Amino acid sequence: MSGPKLFSDKLISKLLDAKSVSVLTGAGVSAESGVPTFRDPGGIWEKFRPEQLANFDAFISDPDFVWQWYQHRREIMRNVQPNDGHYALAEMESLFPDFNLITQNIDNLHRRAGSKNIYELHGNIERNYCISCRKYYNDVSPEEKQALKCSCGGLVRPDVVWFGEMLPYETLMKAEQCAMNSDVFLSIGTSAEVYPAATLPLIAKESGAYVAEINIRQTVITEDLDEFITGKSGVILKRLTEIIKSELKVQ
Ligand code: OAD
Repeated sequence: MSGPKLFSDKLISKLLDAKSVSVLTGAGVSAESGVPTFRDPGGIWEKFRPEQLANFDAFISDPDFVWQWYQHRREIMRNVQPNDGHYALAEMESLFPDFNLITQNIDNLHRRAGSKNIYELHGNIERNYCISCRKYYNDVSPEEKQALKCSCGGLVRPDVVWFGEMLPYETLMKAEQCAMNSDVFLSIGTSAEVYPAATLPLIAKESGAYVAEINIRQTVITEDLDEFITGKSGVILKRLTEIIKSELKVQ
């Protein structure tokens, strides 16, 4: 296999020996699909104030406004395709005895790429639920311009975690267990600035995993990890998967 060396031999050997591999993904993984990130130049939080949009009080005071913003984001996400990074991660699931994909992304692209063992820490934009009776309303038409009302009369909201809200408890517990039990942990395309997701690579490191970060630039946790791999996640993950497959003699 030719081309520039992107990662260490140590990472490859750790991966080849690993029984349990976990990854945490963030918005950077979907950047090559055309989904805007949050904190990069031109990112979502440069244009919008989170407290106006990703917030329960904002939803209650103007449900249609918040609903329309999520309809707009749904349209963006439905019109993009998973990229090489999403497909590589889906393929990795079959290469390791235990492979866990923990994501902060709500865009559904990991699922569309074929990943199965997914822990969605911040929810999924394709799901909605009634705030009164918790009945689910999925696959909502893009034509719905006003916030949906449930058959019980309650307001229907996107099943995403807003600022000030707790993460889904069981999903977070499972993600922490994955971090604690992993032999190799990859933190990919996340600024690692949002908690508790940002603690997962550090929990993995403290628990003895080899932890590598894949990002186009260093983050606040880079110094605490074992390896920094610079580059676009689509390129890096595709190459990493090719190397693992070639070493494992998998077609
Ligand atoms: P951020 O926007 O904070 O960070 C995106 C990261 O991706 C940055 O570190 C970029 O350097 C990196 N990046 C950009 N393009 C990349 C590429 N092609 N390949 C690799 N890395 C790339 O997004 P998150 O860390 O996901 O939460 O943000 C975490 C949470 O903050 C989100 O889930 C969202 C937001 O507020 C909620 O809405 C609850």
